[in-house]
Amino acid sequence: MTFLFNSDAARAAVFREHFARDLPDLPFVHSSEPVDPDSVRYLLTWTVPEDISRYRNLEILFSIGAGVDQFKVDAIPAGVRIVRMVEDGIIRMMQEYVTLGVLALHREMPAYLAQQRQSVWQPLAVCQATERRIGFLGLGMLAQATIERLKPFDFPLAGWSRSRKAIDGVACFSGQDQLAAFLNQTDILVCLLPLTAETRGFLNRDVFASLPEGARLLHVGRGPQLDQAALLEALDTGRLAAAMLDVTDPEPLPHDHALWRHPKVMITPHIASVTQPHTAARAVVENIRRYRAGKDLIGLVDPNRGY
Ligand code: NDP
Ligand code: OXD
Repeated sequence: MTFLFNSDAARAAVFREHFARDLPDLPFVHSSEPVDPDSVRYLLTWTVPEDISRYRNLEILFSIGAGVDQFKVDAIPAGVRIVRMVEDGIIRMMQEYVTLGVLALHREMPAYLAQQRQSVWQPLAVCQATERRIGFLGLGMLAQATIERLKPFDFPLAGWSRSRKAIDGVACFSGQDQLAAFLNQTDILVCLLPLTAETRGFLNRDVFASLPEGARLLHVGRGPQLDQAALLEALDTGRLAAAMLDVTDPEPLPHDHALWRHPKVMITPHIASVTQPHTAARAVVENIRRYRAGKDLIGLVDPNRGY
C-alpha cells in the first residue's frame, strides 16, 4: 500500500517528513522514484496522469488544490474517490486576498492607481462600509471563512449558493429563482464558485445587468466563469465601476489583451490562495486516517455535481 506524490520535489520533502512521522506504515513515494503500480492506493496530483489506469488498486485521488476542475473526470477509473484540498493555509490566504480585494474595490483603488499613472491628485467620494453591500457567489468553505473575516468591517453581507444556507449575519439566497434578487442588492460581487458545466460563462452580460449601476467585481473562482468581453463592455458603459481579477482565461492573458491596461481593472496572477505544504500534509494525513477508520472524507467531491 503506497501513497504516490505527483508534485514538485520541495513540497514532496515536506509531505515525506509528515508521513514518516504520522503515518509510518504507509510508504511515501515521489513520482520521480520507482513504484510498483499495483501498490498505489492514494495519489496526490494537480492533473490526472495520462497513465492513471496503471494504478489498478487506486482508491483516492487527492487534488493538490482546492479546485478539481482541472481533473478530466472521464479519465478517472470508476470507483476512485476524488478529494479536493481543504487545509488551513489555503483558507487563510483566501481570507487575506478577498479582504484585500473588497477593501481595494470599496476604497476606489483601481481609480486611484489610474490617477497615479496620470499624476492626478484627486480625492473621490467615499461610501461608508455600512452602505456597500458585499455579495458572494458560492457559500462554500472559502466564501464562508472569508465572510467571517469581513464581518468586523460592517459591510452588509449576502451570499448565493445552490442549496439554502443559514449563516449568522448573512442574507442567504439560493437557486436560480433567487439569483436576480441577490444580484440586485450587491455592490461588490465576489465570485468563489467552482468551475463546472453550470458555472462556465456564468459572469455574463445578464449578471452584470442585474447588478446595481456602478457595482464592482472581484473574481477569484476560475477564468472560464467570466465572459471577458461582457466585462469590458460593462466597464466601458459604466454599468460596472471596477473589477479585480485573480483568474483569467487564458492564464496569462495575451500581452495585448484590453483587460491588462484597462484603467478600471486590477489583475493578479492567480495568487489569491496557494496550498501550503505543512498544513496540507497535515490535512491529507488526517483524511487518510479518517478513511482508514471508516469516517467521511473531508473535501470529498461529488463527480455528478463536479465539485
Ligand atoms: P466549495 O465546494 O466549498 O463551495 C462551492 C460553493 O459554490 C458552494 O456553496 C456551492 O453551493 C456553490 N455552487 C457550486 N455550483 C453552484 C451553482 N451551479 N449554483 C449555485 N451555487 C453553486 O468550494 P471552495 O469554497 O473550497 O472553493 C471555491 C472555488 O474557489 C474553487 O473551486 C476554486 O475554483 C476557487 N479557488 C481559487 C483560488 C485562487 O487562488 N484564485 C484558490 C482556491 C480556490 P452548495 O453549498 O449549495 O453546494
Ligand atoms: C486552487 C487554486 O484550486 O490554487 O487551489 O486555484
